[in-house]
Amino acid sequence: MTLLSVRDLSLSYPLPRRSWRRSAPVRALHGLSFEMGEGERVGLVGMSGSGKSSLLRCLLAMEPAATGQVLLRGRPVAAGSVAALRWYRRAVQYVPQDPIASLEPRMTVAQSVAEPLLRLRVDCDPMRRAEEALESVGLDHRFLRRRPDELSGGQAQRVAIARAIATRPSLLLTDEPVSGLDMTSRVQVVEVLRHLSEVHGTAILMVSHDISVVAGLCRRAMVMDGGRIVEDRPVAAMLRDPHHPHTSELLNAAPPMTAAA
Ligand SMILES: Nc1ncnc2c1ncn2[C@@H]1O[C@H](COP(=O)(O)OP(=O)(O)OP(=O)(O)O)[C@@H](O)[C@H]1O
Ligand SMILES: [Mg+2]
Repeated sequence: MTLLSVRDLSLSYPLPRRSWRRSAPVRALHGLSFEMGEGERVGLVGMSGSGKSSLLRCLLAMEPAATGQVLLRGRPVAAGSVAALRWYRRAVQYVPQDPIASLEPRMTVAQSVAEPLLRLRVDCDPMRRAEEALESVGLDHRFLRRRPDELSGGQAQRVAIARAIATRPSLLLTDEPVSGLDMTSRVQVVEVLRHLSEVHGTAILMVSHDISVVAGLCRRAMVMDGGRIVEDRPVAAMLRDPHHPHTSELLNAAPPMTAAA
């Protein structure tokens, strides 16, 4: 069944008002269309500046300038009040690129994980739900009272994942989830994501410039170039026979492949 439908999505960043150059606005996305199924894991790869983060921001309903349509289970996501978007924000959660910077330094781990539950008015016991989310990323009760500066990079990334899954989302958007981590933590974080997706049926859209990380988690990958999706195919086929020159470049830049999921 279709979970997410994206139709003809475009985004232009306006120029700064006092720009002295007479150039056109930056066109970051050019009429993207794609679908994702329930529980599906999809990698989003592309060179720097190809529009990956811009697409995620649109999917998070954070870019009011975007045109086109995003539907979740057929329900359109309309820009609107905080209250009107609450259903969508519970269902679509985000794991940011830099977990330590994304966590409020004065909050304990338990408070950080419970915060979206309170903000989005999820009907549950926030502390119990936070403990449960932390447990599912492999962090026990000893971490509840820690603060971000008392965590390793891999632990902070797992806290960020726990924070994102606490609302029990249907879709998780992750931006370079392992890029700042050492090899051991990378493998652990990818395993945590796979486990969550398999146990809870959570769909994942994972941005990475590293196609080998994508191959470790996703069957399908989309390649972006210049704000367009230029390939959308099974990763295994892409590795064997890249169609677009940018895909070949990405393959050449990547470390040796891990087995496809
Ligand atoms: N706030 C902004 N204002 C103006 N232009 C922007 C803004 N954010 C991004 N851009 C431009 O939009 C294009 C796409 O940027 P985006 O950040 O989506 O790329 P990316 O694929 O995520 O790159 P990276 O791999 O470096 O994170 C780039 O040309 C970038 O310079
Ligand atoms: Mg980016």
